[in-house]
Amino acid sequence: MKLAVLTGGGDCPGLNAVIRAVVKSAHQSGLEVLGIKDGFRGAVEGDFMPLTLNDVSGILPRGGTILGTTNRDNPFAYETKLDGKLKSIDRSDDVLRNLKERGVDVLVAIGGDGSLNIALKLADKGLSVIGIPKTIDNDLMATDQTFGFQTAVETAKEALDRLHTTGESHHRIMVLEVMGRYAGWIALYAGVAGGADVILIPEIPYNLNRVAQSIQRRAKQGKKFSIIVVAEGAKPLGGEMVVDRLVSGRFDPIKLGGIGAKLGHDLEEHSGIETRVTVLGYLQRGGSPNAFDRVLSTRYGVAAVDAALEKEFGIMVALRGRDIVRVPLHEAVDKLKLVPLIDPLLIAARALGIEMGD
Ligand code: F6P
Repeated sequence: MKLAVLTGGGDCPGLNAVIRAVVKSAHQSGLEVLGIKDGFRGAVEGDFMPLTLNDVSGILPRGGTILGTTNRDNPFAYETKLDGKLKSIDRSDDVLRNLKERGVDVLVAIGGDGSLNIALKLADKGLSVIGIPKTIDNDLMATDQTFGFQTAVETAKEALDRLHTTGESHHRIMVLEVMGRYAGWIALYAGVAGGADVILIPEIPYNLNRVAQSIQRRAKQGKKFSIIVVAEGAKPLGGEMVVDRLVSGRFDPIKLGGIGAKLGHDLEEHSGIETRVTVLGYLQRGGSPNAFDRVLSTRYGVAAVDAALEKEFGIMVALRGRDIVRVPLHEAVDKLKLVPLIDPLLIAARALGIEMGD
């Protein structure tokens, strides 16, 4: 049996750890592994590379992906130059043909909801597919956690610790904008871990008055600085998410970004307290995975090879409690996993007096 592995969508800490685990455990069972370069672009264009034990040696702690990735290049709407014009055409048959020509039996797709949606469509066309849930956003259904999330939270927590000392010295409001797309997981976890006073997430549209009042209350108690974590997808009551730009060829063309600046401006005007904004951005995606993500990534890689050996396809490996299980791929991508209003950490945050903006 021959496996092909690709990493699709935004990169995240732990991708190399998964690739390594797939190659090492496949090797134990005598399976061959090929790498596909730059996500589905390589699948469409037939751009492959060998993945031997040697190729994955030493990559466990490395950030990024040795295969390269892209969050554009959807084979079902592939931007192709035809008669001098860029057109979006269905090139999914090229993917099937390229894999067949290389003798690949199984595609292991490491991705978030965009890449796994594409993988599901390829499975519907008869390809044997196994998905592995990746994203710092932690917004995939059917798994307790995606790999990469914990490391992103760790990075955001560290940023908050640093913002605390400068914010306190200058008696300022410090706003930290974190990633997460339409879900507030990174903001919620980092906010609690970093001792934020206000956490604003997309699931709870915020009331600016309430946020300002909570900061003024703190000021009256002698706390002359405040720390706010705002998820990039957060929005004011009655308002919209702030879109940075639209990116063509992407599964979801909307790229969020800019709510931190808006909130910072509005709050300074409202409260009269000097405010500074930091956008954490791609620091959350880069760098070495923490121990939790290395272990989770490794377990996902091993579980994917197990599923291939047992010929179970059209599934995604997932974390449930302490176990790695297999779930139908469509369950993972049917809808996004947002922070429920009864999430235990959200309730704990409220119990601590953290302002959630509602
Ligand atoms: O899905 C991961 C993520 O980092 C989101 O948190 C963010 O909104 C998006 O990707 C950014 O995408 P891009 O790499 O296109 O800037």
